[in-house]
Amino acid sequence: MRKTTESHPAVEAEPVVAEEPGRCDGDNQLWLQCWRERRTDFHQSEVNPLLSRFWPSLKLVHGSRVFVPLCGKSLDMIWLAQQGHEVLGVELSPVAVEDFFRENGLQPVKRQAGQFTLWSHGKLCILCGDYFALNADDIGIFDTVYDRAALTALPENVRGLYVAQLGRLVPKNAGVFLLTIEDAAEDATLSQAAGVDEEIARLYTAAFEIDLAYVESVFEPDPESPDALRRAEYKVYRLSGKSERPVSGL
Ligand SMILES: C[S@@+](CC[C@H](N)C(=O)[O-])C[C@H]1O[C@@H](n2cnc3c(N)ncnc32)[C@H](O)[C@@H]1O
Repeated sequence: MRKTTESHPAVEAEPVVAEEPGRCDGDNQLWLQCWRERRTDFHQSEVNPLLSRFWPSLKLVHGSRVFVPLCGKSLDMIWLAQQGHEVLGVELSPVAVEDFFRENGLQPVKRQAGQFTLWSHGKLCILCGDYFALNADDIGIFDTVYDRAALTALPENVRGLYVAQLGRLVPKNAGVFLLTIEDAAEDATLSQAAGVDEEIARLYTAAFEIDLAYVESVFEPDPESPDALRRAEYKVYRLSGKSERPVSGL
């Protein structure tokens, strides 16, 4: 899968320091720096069109709670709240959280919640702090997780920890609505490229049923060779939690 940080030289250049399981503090410093320097190419200035198109297919009830890990200042959270959901994001950078509320004309209430700062306004809350330091009690019960550029923002060697942490945080029957952008391997057949990504299958199969709801192939400029085009698959996954999860990991 494509890494969402590929346009951030600092994130690419520095080694990742995974000091203890579940933590990745070296990467955290780089994210904080990206936000301070406003190097946030990953931020979308519009609501993600695949979210508004496919989210209704989940048929969630009004008022159900949506958890948005590594949320940045995503406008998708505004859209989710407009659909009647209670939304809780988690974001490392206070710059991102402050920008989110200010740019959307919202005046949040701010309070300390353990090692996190909780910012809230109506149905929208963001816990500012490290996702890997969260406990299930910090976030309460959730029906669904929305992941756009969260799993893929992390280095490959941390993604398993991200999924294991998700398993500790959300109930077994919670679903995940996952959007990815995937570059096909050079030797991949068309049907392999358009199928469930191997890494997604490896990370989620033990605890989730994986439904690949949509694939769109797009030819776009290749940043590594400006005159060429590369093909990318934009995918929508609907993952539904299996009620029985393995003891380790999820
Ligand atoms: C690629 S951005 C995606 C943001 C958002 N999901 C979006 O679609 O715009 C990844 C975000 O994760 C945040 N982040 C990275 N590591 C984190 C961690 N350990 N805990 C909380 N947030 C983290 C970064 O600060 C950044 O805002």
